[in-house]
Amino acid sequence: MVLSAALFLFGAARADLAFHPGEVWRDTDGQPIQAHGGGILIYSNIYYWYGEDRTPEIRSAVSCYSSTNLLDWKREGVALWQTNLPIANGHRTFVERPKVIYNPRTKKFVMWLHTEQGRYHFASAGVALSDTPMGPFTFLKTFRPITNNIGFAEDDVDGQNKFGGTFRDMNLFVDDDGRAYTFYSSEGNWTMYVVRLNADFTGPELPAVENKTWSRILVRQMREGPAPFKWKGKYFLITSACTGWAPNAANYSVAENILGPWKTFENPCTGLDSAKTFGGQSTFVLPSPGKSDQFIFMADRWNPSDLPDSRYLWLPFTLPADGTLTIPWRDQWSF
Ligand code: DGJ
Repeated sequence: MVLSAALFLFGAARADLAFHPGEVWRDTDGQPIQAHGGGILIYSNIYYWYGEDRTPEIRSAVSCYSSTNLLDWKREGVALWQTNLPIANGHRTFVERPKVIYNPRTKKFVMWLHTEQGRYHFASAGVALSDTPMGPFTFLKTFRPITNNIGFAEDDVDGQNKFGGTFRDMNLFVDDDGRAYTFYSSEGNWTMYVVRLNADFTGPELPAVENKTWSRILVRQMREGPAPFKWKGKYFLITSACTGWAPNAANYSVAENILGPWKTFENPCTGLDSAKTFGGQSTFVLPSPGKSDQFIFMADRWNPSDLPDSRYLWLPFTLPADGTLTIPWRDQWSF
């Protein structure tokens, strides 16, 4: 995605204003931003931030905010309403980790998310579509993208023997050739899957062929919070461990081919509390405006006793020539 120089200059002009990781981040109306487990879409030189809206009193599932400088976010409203989500087994579906990409062929904004019910055994993908970035998105379907059976137990609590590998923490990635992929924790979170999407971005490319259109990666590593990005032709994937809402150590994996093989490296975080990702969990990596070697690591510092008050950790990092990833803590920073 090419960002205009004007956009970057606007960001630079706001250098007096800083990011404050972990502090309450208010939108342009002064309300705390509700966009947890989120991601960013860049469209027409505007950033859109989608995330879990955990405001208790409104029936919003996914919120949408817009910005031109990544610091000041205007609430655009509800991108996807809870009431538009299906009811199954007597439960209203809830959503986690929504992400949105644009499909230039269909001219649709395509949202993927983790749809869930009850005690997290539904573990399915959800897809919703909109003609505008703000939505509201129309909910399309819930499903498991890969209907495989690697010998799942007959009584598998997640029904994988019937429906295929689970779909929980997830992300989307659009490659330079325009093809899109979803990364997600599967097999009861034991193994990450990367799956190429169909031309509309509404499902997996079919027929799904292992190691050709999709792959099992980070096998039996039990990783969550996949945050992919690309640098100098190589694919990077930051992930967390799997400890509920509690923070743990991140690590990262690198591949020449998006379908693997992937090689895993140690925790890239440095500084105070780095062993617990500064109290956060990866959700997204955003290329820094106008800089090919710089990125912003986005993480959620969950507050399980008050989820709406979970905070955002946005931290900049630069990749050196050898590609070793380091994410230092900063109390505050600006472009
Ligand atoms: C960790 C995941 O990363 C979150 O998105 C959420 O599903 C929590 N687990 C629930 O415990």
